[in-house]
Amino acid sequence: MKLTVVGGGSTYTPELVDGFARLRDTLPIEELVLMDPAEDRLALVGGLSRRIFARQDHPGRITTTTDLDRAVDGADAVLLQLRVGGQAAREQDETWPLDCGCVGQETTGAGGLAKALRTVPVVLDIADRVRRTNPDAWIIDFTNPVGIVTRALLEAGHKAVGLCNVAIGLQRKFAALLGVEPPEVHLDHVGLNHLTWETGVRVGGPEAEDVLPELLTDHGDTIASDLRLPPALLNNLGVIPSYYLRYYYAHDEVVRELRTKPSRAAEVAAMEKELLTMYADPALDEKPELLAKRGGAYYSEAAVDLAAALLGGGGTPYQVVNTYNRGTLPFLPDDAVIEVQAAVGAKGASPLPVPSVDPLYAGLMANVTAYEHLALEAAVHGRRTRVFRALLSHPLIGQYEYAEALTDRLIAHNREHLAWA
Ligand code: G6P
Ligand code: MN
Repeated sequence: MKLTVVGGGSTYTPELVDGFARLRDTLPIEELVLMDPAEDRLALVGGLSRRIFARQDHPGRITTTTDLDRAVDGADAVLLQLRVGGQAAREQDETWPLDCGCVGQETTGAGGLAKALRTVPVVLDIADRVRRTNPDAWIIDFTNPVGIVTRALLEAGHKAVGLCNVAIGLQRKFAALLGVEPPEVHLDHVGLNHLTWETGVRVGGPEAEDVLPELLTDHGDTIASDLRLPPALLNNLGVIPSYYLRYYYAHDEVVRELRTKPSRAAEVAAMEKELLTMYADPALDEKPELLAKRGGAYYSEAAVDLAAALLGGGGTPYQVVNTYNRGTLPFLPDDAVIEVQAAVGAKGASPLPVPSVDPLYAGLMANVTAYEHLALEAAVHGRRTRVFRALLSHPLIGQYEYAEALTDRLIAHNREHLAWA
């Protein structure tokens, strides 16, 4: 089996390689190709990756290349984990929306739209080249904004599934609180990427009894404090929102905080520098602790599981993925991309049925789906009016004055990445 990681020079890669090494029975890799245009990073990350494989006596080989066509030739699956413009562009996404009192975040609100506009054309180009070289390869997308990018890939007819680590992170957390093993915990997980709610928590599988009410009674305070939301809100909702919902439920509070502290991009850039220095040490042969401070913890587990299921070898039968709605959530269009539990196998992902969704969540999902549709139009076809329409439709923006001002800022800060600007 051959797997290719586009963006393989990312500091996240050792997380992934560690998962591939530990979980090699689930995913027997013969060749892992790390592809990245940044040769210096690739050399450091490639070196550590080989040492991680060697330490665990993994028989597979790891190769590195800057050549995409060579990288994907013969690959069974291609993982996309890239960041167009790097942390510098992310820093912008996190900053200029604050001028208008709107959240500055890399996937939510105006910053998320900027990231979508930079990323979608690049990912579509990569996917076209993957298909030309290797039409059977599965594309697993971890590149944000995952909902919009996955929708772009599916609309262009690619064999793609979107992946996020939010659900697997909550599964681990709830397992620890309940004193059970993570694979035993099945989440009733519903929504769009980075806009999800856990409406049920079952120990033993999708048919097992829902223990969410007890979980909230016994550990509501801990969960609320992790989410940085008031316990009373969680009690009131009776479900557990993902931490991305804080950008909605506590929007103004988040804006006030963001205005007084360094951006996440700056934090991550400093961490990346430190990580790369560590990776250069030939004595290091495991993933460093510091990597756990990145948001992508457990990404490797989820990615191994998904690749194993898509490549027909195994993996967990039900996994949380991003895929076409196709009637699963009847209040959303069929071509919306949703993030839910799905049966995953060699033919792809098919969502499990979802019980009826409370209008409190359905309404926001519908609104953000409309935004994602308009965002994709803007990303694919460009032009100021489309950017404005997407921003105006976003529930955290909504007013024309802000949408106008944010449109100007988005274009000004991203001109070098926008072919039409
Ligand atoms: C979570 C999200 C990812 C996102 C990451 C950011 O893992 O699921 O989609 O990329 O956080 O992490 P960072 O460490 O870069 O802030
Ligand atoms: Mn994510």
